[in-house]
Amino acid sequence: MSATPVKVAVTGAAGQIGYSLLFRIASGELLGKDTPVELRLLEITPALKALEGVVMELDDCAFPTLAGVVIGDDPEEIFADVDGAMLVGAMPRKEGMDRADLLAANGKIFTGQGAALNKVAPKAKVLVTGNPANTNALIAMRNAPDMAPEQFNALTRLDHNRAKSMLAKKLGVSVAEIKDLAIWGNHDDSMYPDLFNTKVNGKAATELVDQTWITEEYIPTVATRGGAIIKARGASSAASAANATIDHMRDWMLGTDEVVSMSVPSDGSYGVPEGIISSFPCRVRGGKWEIVQGLELGDFSRERIMASAARLESERDQVQQLGLI
Ligand code: NAD
Ligand code: LMR
Repeated sequence: MSATPVKVAVTGAAGQIGYSLLFRIASGELLGKDTPVELRLLEITPALKALEGVVMELDDCAFPTLAGVVIGDDPEEIFADVDGAMLVGAMPRKEGMDRADLLAANGKIFTGQGAALNKVAPKAKVLVTGNPANTNALIAMRNAPDMAPEQFNALTRLDHNRAKSMLAKKLGVSVAEIKDLAIWGNHDDSMYPDLFNTKVNGKAATELVDQTWITEEYIPTVATRGGAIIKARGASSAASAANATIDHMRDWMLGTDEVVSMSVPSDGSYGVPEGIISSFPCRVRGGKWEIVQGLELGDFSRERIMASAARLESERDQVQQLGLI
């Protein structure tokens, strides 16, 4: 095992997603069985007692990869020199709410956390899961002026995994046979899963399913899956969200040969306005992500991508009015 532990911060660590996420990171599922990890766990003061109980359970697992756990309610103390920060802590929506309804309540969490990261964790890779994830990531990024915008991502890997799984089920294939699928846009019901550039065993997915199914069933089902889970479970997705948070951060830290969906600051690629944090097909090498270039997008795809980008612009304008950026 290597000597220096990788420091990973998780906010909202006593919450539902935290309860699934921490044990998997601690057991080596983020960075592998040869890399020790130190967990830095942030919570609000009233939740620290519950977090102490979670830490007792982490101790009781005797994970060889877990080099240490630090808990607290001070972002500057918890984020000090972390390599990665998973910003999960935020209120989840309830049935009947849109994720954007959470902006005013959750947005202000990310001003302080962005500023703290800027001060004490200049090299961190920061992944926002707390909703509305894209715009919260934008808030954190804009409050961290000394960090590179590239250091701020938001989670659309859960949507990516959902889209893959639903297509695999429809075609009766394994998810491993599906490549180059990607989610574009916002983590809301305007997101666009693009099947035109998706391959199934090397064949274009659009040759295997018909357009009516894509438009009327597939896109809306992927885009509203979070709400369907809230309705069924009475609480927002947690284990699958933790899984996707690990998938995203693992690929960002260790690299991947696959095309994956990551919400990243737009550089204007494909006409998505510069600066907003939008989901794109990405590749990752050497700890750096890049947007896949040169994809063909027809009118159907372009219209949907631009509609989702417009949602992100409207959320950005809203947080600007709230004085959060
Ligand atoms: P939860 O309510 O179970 O847990 C949230 C935790 O965050 C709580 O323990 C709370 O005390 C803590 N918290 C609140 N403010 C904080 C702050 N300022 N600093 C640190 N911790 C803070 O919620 P959950 O189910 O774990 O979900 C967390 C967030 O993740 C929600 O916003 C939810 O909507 C979002 N989510 C996103 C995705 C995605 O794909 N992007 C998927 C699922 C859930
Ligand atoms: C999800 O997609 O499951 C989460 O973003 C929770 C939600 O509010 O839908």
